[in-house]
Amino acid sequence: MQSQASYDYAVVRKFAIMTVVWGIVGMLVGVIIAAQLVWPQLNFHEWLHFGRLRPLHTNAVIFAFGGCALFATSYFVVQRTCHTSLFAPWLAELTFWGWQLIIVLAAVTLPLGITTGKEYAELEWPIDILITVVWVAYAVVFFGTIVKRKTPHIYVANWFYGSFILAVAVLHLVNSAEVPVSLWKSYSAYAGVQDAMIQWWYGHNAVGFFLTAGFLGMMYYFVPKQAERPVYSYRLSVVHFWALIFTYMWAGPHHLHYTALPDWAQSLGMTFSLILLAPSWGGMINGIMTLSGAWHKLRTDPILKFLVTSLSFYGMSTFEGPMMSIKTVNALSHYTDWTVGHVHSGALGWVAMISIGAVYYLLPRMYGKNEMYSTRLITLHFWVATVGVVLYIASMWIAGVMQGLMSRAVNGDGTLTYAFVETVKASYPFWTIRLLGGVLFLVGMLIMFYNMVRTIAGQKAVNAPVLAVSAAH
Ligand code: HEM
Ligand code: HEM
Repeated sequence: MQSQASYDYAVVRKFAIMTVVWGIVGMLVGVIIAAQLVWPQLNFHEWLHFGRLRPLHTNAVIFAFGGCALFATSYFVVQRTCHTSLFAPWLAELTFWGWQLIIVLAAVTLPLGITTGKEYAELEWPIDILITVVWVAYAVVFFGTIVKRKTPHIYVANWFYGSFILAVAVLHLVNSAEVPVSLWKSYSAYAGVQDAMIQWWYGHNAVGFFLTAGFLGMMYYFVPKQAERPVYSYRLSVVHFWALIFTYMWAGPHHLHYTALPDWAQSLGMTFSLILLAPSWGGMINGIMTLSGAWHKLRTDPILKFLVTSLSFYGMSTFEGPMMSIKTVNALSHYTDWTVGHVHSGALGWVAMISIGAVYYLLPRMYGKNEMYSTRLITLHFWVATVGVVLYIASMWIAGVMQGLMSRAVNGDGTLTYAFVETVKASYPFWTIRLLGGVLFLVGMLIMFYNMVRTIAGQKAVNAPVLAVSAAH
């Protein structure tokens, strides 16, 4: 009787726990590659050198850490807002094990040097097929749950999650079209500048949909919940949704400024990137203003601190991105650490912080408690992580602008003032500060792991009863 009338939390629990575990693994690899840049001697084995661990880092943090956070929260939010249990829970279970298998395969193949060489789509064709199978199963569970909903309305968070699932399916299928030549080697179906354009159409929308739309879904559920206030403007959230998903699709060429890509396509990408500022900030403001009347809670609630700070970083990185897409600015920033700083203000400040806030919200509820084992440890985590992000991105901004200026400096006779190696030498102090920032962020994740284990220890896993239609979410 209980099982018929309760939400399926088993799969949410598993994905939530693995978010923390993969977060630690992915960030540890980030710390290792940051250390390799400071001490090149750490590149002592081919399986563990920078070139192989860097894609392992990006795959682990984006797809393992970010992916598990998206699976956990979307399975939770879709049930709660549709007032129904999951469609085909066994299939949801399959997505969990399938996704973990993909992560393990990535962790084995990437250090071995097995890669397609396409950034954020490095995994070889057998793994690509597995990703497709798991993703279709995910779509069936998510949209199946929407179809069997007991509410007349589809809450806006589900629109964001739904667009993320659909867009990632299309991106993965198109960009991964490849011709296998052996079990672990394939070649892209595209060539030359077309290959580059498709890769960055994929790459930018991986940012737009994997690293943004899904997390905005998270924002629209967990910020109002934790603040105990309704969304500031529901109308704005709908405009935000359509404007954002329409605009993101066109911005990819800003990754290919001054390349063989036709000039008009570069300008088109730049224009759409500038327009993207408006929906991005509309969403950010909608999230932050949801705290109207509840600002005082920020003083005492560290989960809310994580959620609201993540929105500030979202606002910062979506201001910086459009600026960097202006061709003359990009002429300075491209090929420098400015890009890496931008990436991590989005990745650590926005993606990681909102996921951390959402998981802190979920964990106690999954185990029949109202709050985590220690609120003070969440506060500690918040400050350690915030100082970590600030050290990371500030050092990369300074290093990036310095590298850009050094690379373009010319002497009176037209020769370059600095050799490349001099820009490397000048970057060491900043890479050391970035390493320190990364270590702090990782320490924060370890604090979270301890808090999670203590919260779960001795508690029983619980499922909440499905709400009646008229009840609140
Ligand atoms: C309005 C929103 C945004 C715009 C217009 C934008 C624009 C840009 C631009 C112009 C670059 C540099 C391209 C280059 O010189 O190669 C870039 C790089 C990047 N951005 Fe953003 N950005 C935005 C938001 C974000 C957010 C929120 C995140 C993360 C959550 C993010 C993640 C990245 C990544 C990962 C790269 C590096 C790609 C690579 O070269 O590997 N961006 N972005
Ligand atoms: C402890 C935390 C982290 C540390 C120390 C760290 C460190 C690094 C380092 C050293 C690089 C290579 C930069 C280079 O090639 O010069 C890198 C790249 C990257 N990291 Fe992280 N990272 C961390 C967390 C994250 C998280 C949480 C995400 C995503 C959610 C992320 C996404 C990326 C991406 C997309 C790149 C490639 C950037 C590009 O191609 O421009 N990182 N990271």
